[in-house]
Amino acid sequence: MTAFITGAAGFVGSNLTDRLLALGHDVVGFDNFSTGRIQFLTRALENPRFRLHRADLLDLEALSQAMAGADFVYHFASNADVRFGTRHPRKDLEQSTIATWNVLEAMRTNNVRRIAFASSGSVYGEPEIFPTPEGCPFPVQTSFYGAAKLAAEGFIEAYSEGFGFEAWIFRFVSLLGPRYSHGHIIDFYRQLREHPDVLNVLGDGQQRKSYLYIGDCIEAILTATRQASAKVNIFNLGADQACAVNDSIGWICEHLGVSPRLMYSGGKRGWIGDSPFILLDCDRIRSLGWRPTLSIQQAVVRTVEFLEDNPWLDEPAG
Ligand SMILES: NC(=O)c1ccc[n+]([C@@H]2O[C@H](COP(=O)([O-])OP(=O)(O)OC[C@H]3O[C@@H](n4cnc5c(N)ncnc54)[C@H](O)[C@@H]3O)[C@@H](O)[C@H]2O)c1
Repeated sequence: MTAFITGAAGFVGSNLTDRLLALGHDVVGFDNFSTGRIQFLTRALENPRFRLHRADLLDLEALSQAMAGADFVYHFASNADVRFGTRHPRKDLEQSTIATWNVLEAMRTNNVRRIAFASSGSVYGEPEIFPTPEGCPFPVQTSFYGAAKLAAEGFIEAYSEGFGFEAWIFRFVSLLGPRYSHGHIIDFYRQLREHPDVLNVLGDGQQRKSYLYIGDCIEAILTATRQASAKVNIFNLGADQACAVNDSIGWICEHLGVSPRLMYSGGKRGWIGDSPFILLDCDRIRSLGWRPTLSIQQAVVRTVEFLEDNPWLDEPAG
């Protein structure tokens, strides 16, 4: 199989690239390096079965040309940071929704029919059912990021119906582990490195969220794409527990050996669109035999270890 991976230089895309190469597949990576890192592709670039295109998904012609000969598209590029949606309301529309439409059009012109898509648990907004199942009614969108992902899911479903595509849509919780590069752990880690005695925390620290280790996420994607064969297959991917931001702070501080004074910004949400409780029902993926191998605490500690080992992450992306 030749896999075409958008966002191949990112956290998730580069881990998937390495895993598919290890399984013996050919991989074509596509990335504009807006947040991606060439260092994440060091191993892949040594492999003759890997090719890299440095281009933008908004350039449909470049995208269509790069995709020629692909069998399966893993569409993992987008703005991945939910936090700053209100600062740039156009960004999520362009980088999630329009970019996804471009990917679908490039697939149509290249006669590629199978797509796996990195969606997000953010599409549930602030749901009323916990753990939240895939079939949960969507009450109201609370973030530009979630709204753009949901629109992208809609286009994927419509292309599946209209052009006979097969789709695997993954609604991830927040992911942790090697090559993690955005989110609360890196924010806390950087603060504590600068001033170990004070930690500024967005919200009241009581927000409870599920997390998943990147290796477990990749195995879940492989399990689902091998075993689920409906026209559109939607999977929540997450751990069966949630942890509070304060738990996470405790594990990070214990690992770093610091005891900072905690300064909360206050309120139940860290930012506009932050969901104070995220716990997804993952029975559907579990019914295929998949299980997470690491607890949230283990995943948090592995993430901090990765950040300690890779101080170059402070340099700008590219
Ligand atoms: N990391 C998480 O916790 C998480 C959780 C839920 C969903 N997701 C989704 O998973 C996917 C991967 O996230 P990630 O954490 O690896 O993010 P990331 O920022 O590390 O990776 C995204 C990659 O896409 C590339 N990219 C962005 N816009 C592009 C464009 N217009 N053209 C070409 N390349 C472009 C970036 O350079 C980067 O390499 C995203 O779609 C994200 O929304 C991630």
